[in-house]
Amino acid sequence: MDKKDNVCVCHKVSLGKLDSFIQRENPTVASQLSQCLDAGTSCGWCIPFLKKIHKQHLEGNPIQLGVDSEKYLERRKVYVKKK
Ligand code: FES
Repeated sequence: MDKKDNVCVCHKVSLGKLDSFIQRENPTVASQLSQCLDAGTSCGWCIPFLKKIHKQHLEGNPIQLGVDSEKYLERRKVYVKKK
């Protein structure tokens, strides 16, 4: 997944936007990422991924998601249908 790809598809919040937010705000808990354009506040699909990037931040690692963006979107579609 690239910086331009949306992690939160519902609110169109890209990995790059989340990275900037994290660097700027230094959130102490993952739920604070919702303050970045409401990421994670609708279908809930992205929440595990938001937690993952927050953990990377706490551990001092670069923010990245090693998932294929096409597959990410396909899996989200299935998730949303099942809800
Ligand atoms: S993809 Fe983030 S709340 Fe739906």
